[in-house]
Amino acid sequence: MERRQILQWDPIFNVNIKNVDRDHQKLLCTYNQLVEVYNEKGSFSKFSELLSELTDYSLNHFKMEEELAKDIPNLNFKEHKIDHQRFIYEVAVFNSEFERGNYHQMLKIIDFLYEWWSTHVMLFDQQLNINNK
Ligand SMILES: [Fe+2]
Ligand SMILES: [Fe+2]
Repeated sequence: MERRQILQWDPIFNVNIKNVDRDHQKLLCTYNQLVEVYNEKGSFSKFSELLSELTDYSLNHFKMEEELAKDIPNLNFKEHKIDHQRFIYEVAVFNSEFERGNYHQMLKIIDFLYEWWSTHVMLFDQQLNINNK
């Protein structure tokens, strides 16, 4: 079974907006718990539970970012929002397929989350702080 590394928080992820960074750290922590369940061949119910937690937290987090974006003049938020929707869609599809879970599916969602996380924060969330430009 292929293992996956947990992600360490790196200052490069900082957007320098307190609530945004706090949420990102929390989300990273839940991601790492998912990786641990997978690496240790843990239970499918634990994995599902963590994934729901990640989804709920993400939905609130996206709402908060969408509110923040409204206050930034000249920000093109369209693609950022589409990328949030891509996350919501992918995780929903995964959840619906996971009823009879297997480790291959766990790996698939972990790899998706890794790819999404590492590009989204750097590409889009950084734009929420106009001082980061
Ligand atoms: Fe975002
Ligand atoms: Fe974010």
